[in-house]
Order: sequence, then C-alpha cells, then structure tokens
Amino acid sequence: MTAAKAPKAKRVLLTGAAGGIGTMLRRKLKGAYAELRLSDIAAPKGLGRDETFVQADLADLAAVEKIVEGVDAIVHLGGVSVEQPWDAIHRANIVGGYNLFEAARRHRVKRVVFASSNHAVGFYRRNRRIGTGAPVRPDSRYGVSKAFGEALAALYADKYGLRVLCIRIGNVTEKPADVRRLSIWISPDDLAQLVRIGLEHPSLTYEIVYGASDNARSWWDNAAAFRLGYRPAGRAEDHLAHALEGQAKLPPDPIGDLFEGGPFCSSEFAGDPETRGG
Ligand SMILES: NC(=O)c1ccc[n+]([C@@H]2O[C@H](COP(=O)([O-])OP(=O)(O)OC[C@H]3O[C@@H](n4cnc5c(N)ncnc54)[C@H](O)[C@@H]3O)[C@@H](O)[C@H]2O)c1
Repeated sequence: MTAAKAPKAKRVLLTGAAGGIGTMLRRKLKGAYAELRLSDIAAPKGLGRDETFVQADLADLAAVEKIVEGVDAIVHLGGVSVEQPWDAIHRANIVGGYNLFEAARRHRVKRVVFASSNHAVGFYRRNRRIGTGAPVRPDSRYGVSKAFGEALAALYADKYGLRVLCIRIGNVTEKPADVRRLSIWISPDDLAQLVRIGLEHPSLTYEIVYGASDNARSWWDNAAAFRLGYRPAGRAEDHLAHALEGQAKLPPDPIGDLFEGGPFCSSEFAGDPETRGG
C-alpha cells in the first residue's frame, strides 16, 4: 500500500486535526481520498484553501453527528492525549469517544481508525513481550480512556458491523526522544501506512495493532499488524545517538524504568514496585 496508489473514492473525516498527529496526517493523506474533512475543537494552523475544516466539540453529540454526516470513514485522533484530571479525560475521551462511535453508527459510517495508546498497557514490565491479546494494564486515567475506546470499538464492530482498526500508538516523532522511545517509536510514514491499512484493508473487521516501527528493542508482538500487510520501514536503532542524548537530559525514574509506560507509571505511584504491574 503506497501513497502512489490511485486515490480511492472515499470521504474521510479526521478528528483532532489541529493536533500533532492530525497536522502530520493532513499532509500525508492529502490527495489519497476524494475528501479529507478536518475537525477539531481548535482551528488547525495553516489551513489551505483546498482544505475543509468543521469545528466541533466531541462532547457534543449533535455537533459530532454533523461532522460525520456523509463520510465513509473516520480517523479518530481527537481528545485529551496525555494524563489529565478525570473531568477532562471523561469529557473528551469517554463521552467524546462514545459520541464518535454512536454518531458513526447513526450515519452508517463504514470504518473507524481509533488512535489508542501504549498507555492502555503501560503497566506491563519491560522484561515481558506482549501481544495485542494480553489484558489491558493502563498506567493512567488517560490509559483507561484508551482501553475504554478499544472496548467501545469492539462493541460497535461486533454488534453494528463497523470496521475498526485500533492503533496502540507508541510515540510518533521524526526520531525517538529517549531510551524508552527506542522500544515504542513509530515514524510518521509508518503511522500513515497503518492508518491507510485501517481505511482500506478489504477484510478488516476489528483489530488492535501496535503503532510501532521496526524497533529492535520492541516489547510488542505486532503479528496482527503484519497479517494486515504492515511493513514498517523505520528503525529506532538508526537514531540511537539522538535517543541517548535525550535520555541524558532526563531525571532518574527508577519506578518508571521498570514499566513500559515510564513516567506515566511513576506519576502518583503509591504501590510496591516489586508486586505491582503485569
Ligand atoms: N503523539 C503520540 O505519539 C501519541 C501516542 C499514543 C496515542 N496518541 C493518540 O493519538 C491522538 C492524537 O495525538 P496528538 O499527539 O496529535 O495529540 P494532540 O493533543 O496534539 O491532539 C489532540 C487534538 O484533539 C483536540 N481535542 C481535544 N479535546 C477535544 C474535544 N473535546 N473535541 C474536539 N477536539 C478535541 C485538541 O484540540 C487537539 O488538537 C490522541 O488521541 C492521542 O491520545 C498519540
């Protein structure tokens, strides 16, 4: 699946279009689909004349119904993307997530690509290798909201026939920022490839995959993604010097270093690190 492939006659909605990944995907998906409709609570910067933006708050079901009207597929990136107090997570990710899937059902949208996160499984220990079948082990209220999103996605896929790809994104940047990110990094091109698999794969029904490049230090078995044809080109190890440089600037984090979620695990941590985590 390459960007050179003939554009498909598909109308695609991108939520969270003003955010970091939304801004990147706007460029990478340009021209790939008949329509790329952008939405966010905030206006994206540098909007081109050829781009359509519709403002909407995910917590407002009527507004979400308007933005999904007439689209075939949704790339759902919108919401709180880091740890926050419960009210904020609840509003944007729990209520907002429900509204997104429910609006998709009401308007007969065929596909959703859901931006899940490594933080849904952040409390697994780094010396374990996990697949996508391992039970969720969230490391934060944010991680819980992503596990909720995956469950919601499964319900709408199994009961209402939506096709859904949940991508447990590690960390998308041009280069991995530190040692933890050497295990979970994904290049922008590899993430765009996974998103396109979610939007186009003919036999996709419901799947969870890891959003990771071809990383030698990976903690994840990404067989489900490979079965769907994913062929990552990025390799975190090619950027080792950059990651070590970033690591040297970080404060020590002995608790975070035990678990995949790193600082998301050590934040507010009050347990016994010997007996906690998966
Ligand atoms: N960046 C990463 O490496 C990474 C890793 C794992 C998962 N993810 C997930 O991918 C998605 C995109 O990540 P990002 O880094 O671009 O995050 P981001 O914070 O840059 O973008 C999120 C966007 O969602 C919008 N938003 C927040 N609340 C909203 C609401 N109530 N209604 C409508 N829009 C709302 C924000 O305005 C923002 O533009 C998020 O769901 C995030 O949890 C990202």
